Amino acid sequence: MSKHPLTRREFINLSAGALAAASTAKVLLQPQRLFAAGRPVAPSDTIRFASIGTGIRGCEHLEASLRVPGIQCVAVCDLYDSRHTAAQEAVKNPSVPATRDYRSILDRKDVDSVLIATMDHQHRHIFEDACAAGKDVYCEKPMSHLVEDGFAMVDAAHKNSRMVAVGSQRVSSVLYAKAKEIYDSGKLGEVFSINAYWDRNSPSGAWVYPIPPDASEKTIDWNTFLGSAPKRTFDPVRFFRWRCFTDYGEGLGGDLFVHLLSGIHFITNTNEPAQRAESSGGLFHFKDGREFPDLIETLYDYPKFRVTLRCNLNNNGGEFIGFYGTKGTMIIKDNTLSYRPEDTRPEPEGYSIYGWPKELRDQYFQKWHEEHPEPPALGWKIDETGESYATPPGYSDTVDHQANFYSAVRSRKPVVENEVFGNHTSIGCHLANFSYFNKCVAVWDQAGKKIVKG
Ligand SMILES: NC(=O)c1ccc[n+]([C@@H]2O[C@H](COP(=O)([O-])OP(=O)(O)OC[C@H]3O[C@@H](n4cnc5c(N)ncnc54)[C@H](O)[C@@H]3O)[C@@H](O)[C@H]2O)c1
Repeated sequence: MSKHPLTRREFINLSAGALAAASTAKVLLQPQRLFAAGRPVAPSDTIRFASIGTGIRGCEHLEASLRVPGIQCVAVCDLYDSRHTAAQEAVKNPSVPATRDYRSILDRKDVDSVLIATMDHQHRHIFEDACAAGKDVYCEKPMSHLVEDGFAMVDAAHKNSRMVAVGSQRVSSVLYAKAKEIYDSGKLGEVFSINAYWDRNSPSGAWVYPIPPDASEKTIDWNTFLGSAPKRTFDPVRFFRWRCFTDYGEGLGGDLFVHLLSGIHFITNTNEPAQRAESSGGLFHFKDGREFPDLIETLYDYPKFRVTLRCNLNNNGGEFIGFYGTKGTMIIKDNTLSYRPEDTRPEPEGYSIYGWPKELRDQYFQKWHEEHPEPPALGWKIDETGESYATPPGYSDTVDHQANFYSAVRSRKPVVENEVFGNHTSIGCHLANFSYFNKCVAVWDQAGKKIVKG
């Protein structure tokens, strides 16, 4: 808006431009956690785990577990028989025992911990049974399917003194650790506005997964899959595309919002649910019988800042979180992180005074320059320059998240994303969906531990 040919800031920026450009070359971060956990682990200290649920995510976990020192998969469990084979292939052990019955795994004394990677509506009862059986639990995100599930799971973990990790793996990422370091340093100033999105544009991104040709009531334990959900006749679409249906999943809230919220809570040291949420969205493209929207946008109120989230299944925008502070802006985009300082050096008013007569304007400038003497030649100093980081090739935050969990199992010191943290971010998903489906503001009632209409 300035009418000056070159403002003081612009002049300073020109002279400092080359320096700033040079300093924003990307720095590849090192996978610190893995290095820390990479010390040899005595065989007696090996943690034996079983995976309950060995579908898409369960198999990813089993593969990742091969890179985590000091752990061993001793059993796998799934309701669909072909996933027994998939799990054995993922863990590169064709003889690892496989079963449909998770209780038989909990009965085993040689199983120290379980990884729950089932559909979301199955998390609670497996989690409660595992805690009661004395197993530590890594539970996939979102921890809860319903608000009341989350509180019951927190109680189960506490009552049985179990170590719990919830599965938004960005919380253990080196990129997010660096983002948190920048946030905690105060370089961003005060952050009142956070904006995040995760957008995809493909049938797979919208969970239109192919149905395997051998899927049938013979190969799948359909009734156990339904669990406490309403009874229905066998429907492979519901089994394989469960994220689309309210009985088993939470749509984009539970699938993607929870990752964004977990990252935001971790970086901003937030350990409470949002106070209120207001959603808009719709089902525009994937009209295949699903019950959730393919676009949702939610505005959240937290005590010290506001958050806007969006998930759009009709444009490939990728994954993004922006923190907009009074002194700087920090952007996480996919596997990169950048920080850019705001230019907060004093500058004379350059806009409204052009509605003043020249004489008054000149007086203003004279006074301003007397109060803000310019530094001597070569004395221009740039306090802050931009920063830019990326994860190294082949980096896996899932490996680091597992490594953190198994460190906690050994040390009995809780991880950041424990059951309380996981409950809070899950509530964020439920707030978004409550607002969307009820077309109202969703308010978190802390005393009543429930969502109410605002
Ligand atoms: N952290 C991440 O990045 C990430 C990525 C994908 C999925 N997830 C989460 O992982 C979980 C699983 O998702 P997915 O994509 O692997 O789903 P999926 O449908 O591919 O696999 C789920 C499996 O759980 C099994 N299962 C359900 N109930 C069971 C029970 N009682 N006993 C044994 N097995 C049971 C099913 O047979 C199925 O094979 C979900 O909570 C999801 O939100 C997390």
